[in-house]
Amino acid sequence: MTDQTVLDEVADLRAQLEAANLAYHRDDAPIMTDAAYDAMRRRLAAMEEEFPEVQDAASPTQMIGSPVADGFTKIRHAQRMMSLANAMEDADVNAFQSQILKFLGMPEVADIILTAEPKIDGLSLSLRYEDGRLVYAATRGDGSVGEDVTENAKVIADIPQWVENAPAVMEVRGEVYMTHADFKALNERQLAVGAKTFANPRNAAAGSLRQIDAEKTKGRPLAFFAYAWGVLSEPLGSTQMDAVAKLSAMGFSTNPLMKRLCTLSDVLTHYHMIEAQRASLGYDIDGVVYKVDDLALQDRLGFRSTTPRWAIAHKFPAELAWTRLDGIDIQVGRTGALSPVGRLAPVTVGGVVVSNVTLHNEDYICGRDSKGQPIREGRDIRVGDWVQIYRAGDVIPKIADVDLERRPEDAQPYAFPHVCPRCGSDAVREDDDSVRRCSGGMGCPAQSVERLKHFVSRPAFDIVGLGDTLIERLHDLGWLRAPADIFELQLVRGGTGEGTFSELDGFGDRSAQKLFAAIETARTQPLNRVIQGFGIPHIGNSVSADLAHHYNSWDAFIAAIDRGTVGTGEVWDELMAIEGFGKTIVAALLTAFHQATERAVIDRLVPMLTIEDVAAPVVTESSVSGKTIVFTGTLERMSRAEAKTRAESLGAKVSGSVSAKTDILVAGPGAGSKAKKAAELGVEVIDEDAWMVIAQA
Ligand code: IVH
Repeated sequence: MTDQTVLDEVADLRAQLEAANLAYHRDDAPIMTDAAYDAMRRRLAAMEEEFPEVQDAASPTQMIGSPVADGFTKIRHAQRMMSLANAMEDADVNAFQSQILKFLGMPEVADIILTAEPKIDGLSLSLRYEDGRLVYAATRGDGSVGEDVTENAKVIADIPQWVENAPAVMEVRGEVYMTHADFKALNERQLAVGAKTFANPRNAAAGSLRQIDAEKTKGRPLAFFAYAWGVLSEPLGSTQMDAVAKLSAMGFSTNPLMKRLCTLSDVLTHYHMIEAQRASLGYDIDGVVYKVDDLALQDRLGFRSTTPRWAIAHKFPAELAWTRLDGIDIQVGRTGALSPVGRLAPVTVGGVVVSNVTLHNEDYICGRDSKGQPIREGRDIRVGDWVQIYRAGDVIPKIADVDLERRPEDAQPYAFPHVCPRCGSDAVREDDDSVRRCSGGMGCPAQSVERLKHFVSRPAFDIVGLGDTLIERLHDLGWLRAPADIFELQLVRGGTGEGTFSELDGFGDRSAQKLFAAIETARTQPLNRVIQGFGIPHIGNSVSADLAHHYNSWDAFIAAIDRGTVGTGEVWDELMAIEGFGKTIVAALLTAFHQATERAVIDRLVPMLTIEDVAAPVVTESSVSGKTIVFTGTLERMSRAEAKTRAESLGAKVSGSVSAKTDILVAGPGAGSKAKKAAELGVEVIDEDAWMVIAQA
């Protein structure tokens, strides 16, 4: 039982914060300073962490953060907004179905009922209804935290402000978009008043939804399709199709081309039917989304770190155009990689003007892939060549082909540089690497600047106001070299006089104060963003999130990494057992932390931060919470992957090898050395039936 004084304090803090939120956001009449608000919010968050039993999805800590620089308030989604994995070809759709069947432990030949619907090319929005009333609308943001665009959403005709017969709490998710006709008319109006025009309907929709002044959004014709949901206090149905029909009955606009299909061949037929209608729909779509229809199966399949296992976006083929390659520039990235970028005679591909194209690496330019196999039938790429460009979705344009018949006679094979164009250090290529890297490390200005840019970027430390240009300027001045310098800026450069912000051109006191405030806010970060911020090769957004979910706290994470060794040992096995992790990721992680200069940069930074723990995703209290489970042998009733996901959702850790720390070994038929070792160590060994009892708890 929780102490009454704790309950009272939590209730009191929540009431005060809620009142402050209303006064600030609804009435525009704040009743406390930002600092007092933040302190109170931190106190509440700390108590919720210490006493998990008082946690509540409706707590102010879960809902609204502090106002962001551009005037939008942040909203923490009660349930993350995920993205979708992509299928480019029919074979990928086949693989999607096989993976589902495998995960569920179903026969390979079974059919699974899927829904298919257009993938709308707009921006996603989450609408929260409480007792039928729209309480907020939030953009996707980084998936966890979005922007509060409630006032703007309220002026969209497709978004009801009240719904009848809705669950008490209901988050409806869907896509805001603009029709072709409205887009054209908007651009004509913009031109007429000398305002800026938009490149495509998606940009127009995004720009209009993110108007600070909702009155302006009113003049922008936006539309909305509902296709998914977040938190629900009761289910909308037992299938995707029925749940969407329910949303439609409540007054949401849903896509008329959504269909339930029983076989893969019907699914692909529907894809081509939608593709054939693409040009005449009147709004942009960029593919077809398939979802497992049965919501109980969706539940079992669950999520990878950023995408559901039960859905996939089958994209339409890329759009193509021919143009001339005018030059090749070499960019040096944060890991020292030399990346060739092609400069093109500008050309329109799928409605967007393209003037740069990635050329990947030196092998790619020569006409070989990473395994030495020919690409483009071995045709190399030379400056002056005519090249075919393709764009698929939002990805950076690429070269599909080169026309040898139009090659100028004097065109020379491209000589890839062997020294870094920025610092002159040797650019070396390791045997098994497709990339040539500058060996200058943090001494190379390009590498240290790129690291800093990565560090402050949105998915990492998200320091608003410290943009690329300012980073470059402060780096040139020698004020910023490593991330830790950012947190000492105010201390070292905040005064007046030489070497301070006051003598920087165009940088007034107010901008400096704003920047320092943003930096102070950024000192507090969840573990995943901190890991991501280091900019270690291969350790991106989703890997960092997986690591944070696995270790929960910085102390646990760094203790494990310190004990780890590359290629062998308990930590290596533990990391390798995380879904989606392989040798490249794990080796890159351990190597970076064990490398002296890298480590010095990290060790200087960490004491300056408040690193927030990251809870493992929705964990149920269970008989195996906190225990370490190892699976071995064949499981017949669910796949290894499902067993692992299930165990983790019950609060257990899953390891790949048996050790003294193992609590339970689940041994299916054919269990060998692990069962023997478990017996020697006195570890509890159970069979699949006993595991199913735990799994179904
Ligand atoms: S379902 C958990 N359905 O595509 C999965 N998404 O690439 C929820 N999108 O962020 C998404 N049309 O913004 C879904 N019919 C559709 C969609 C759709 C467009 C967007 C959505 C999502 C992105 C992922």
